[in-house]
Amino acid sequence: MKTIAIVNLKGGVGKTTTAINMAAILAEKNKNVLLIDADSQYNLSMHMKAKTDGINLCDLISGDIDDEDALIQKTYLRNVDIVAGSIDLMDFDLSALRAGEVKETSIRDFCNNLKQNNTYDYVIIDCPPSFSASCAASIYAADDIIIPTTIGVYEYEGIRNIVKQINGMKTINSNLNIAGVLLTQYRKDDICLQGADLFNSNLPVRVFNTKIWRSNAVSESVFANEPCVSWSPTSWAAKTYRAFIDEYLGGDC
Ligand SMILES: Nc1ncnc2c1ncn2[C@@H]1O[C@H](COP(=O)(O)OP(=O)(O)O)[C@@H](O)[C@H]1O
Ligand SMILES: [Mg+2]
Repeated sequence: MKTIAIVNLKGGVGKTTTAINMAAILAEKNKNVLLIDADSQYNLSMHMKAKTDGINLCDLISGDIDDEDALIQKTYLRNVDIVAGSIDLMDFDLSALRAGEVKETSIRDFCNNLKQNNTYDYVIIDCPPSFSASCAASIYAADDIIIPTTIGVYEYEGIRNIVKQINGMKTINSNLNIAGVLLTQYRKDDICLQGADLFNSNLPVRVFNTKIWRSNAVSESVFANEPCVSWSPTSWAAKTYRAFIDEYLGGDC
């Protein structure tokens, strides 16, 4: 089982879209996937039609749970389950971590139990756009970090900072590996072409060759409540998400 956290402290860069479409592609390949929604805006839970007013990630990170199985909900996608997020995650900022209200190893311990049960091949955690307690607990749990980003100077500077922060956490999670930066909402214009060069030549981490292309099909698929890869398999976003999985995990995952 591999645990992958999708991280960027900026919003709107494609974290949730990446989590949904990665899960859908892996599920198509008969992999069992657990999604974890660590964002208080719970977009992932909404998209997967999960219940957000019942037992959710808050109960896990605050140590308020006896039966961990109760956290897991089925989704409309075969082979994909979810631990829902909720607006209550907003109450857990970093001070909650320092005050011991949140156990930093809660998600990691949960994932270790799942690993022993051999239920899932992949756990994919959709992180919030802030360095909150749920974000920190997600990074503690991760084997791999993927950093999706749109192309721009502020985005580039943001990634340099987050890479430093994540590398600093390797003292606590020695398994942690920044798998790479994933350029999203890409289009063929000067800004994207030159911007991609900036990311490729200067970042101290891998930038995936595959770029996720901007497609209207992504927004349409949100309205349709489906992953883009099944809503519009021939869209550029769907094709490039598939190419990304091949580049990141190899053909047989
Ligand atoms: N490849 C893409 N092409 C077009 N629109 C996209 C693409 N990826 C994401 N979007 C849109 O951009 C917005 C932000 O994406 P989202 O995945 O929610 O970002 P985040 O989780 O980082 O906040 C959403 O409205 C989403 O539908
Ligand atoms: Mg999101």
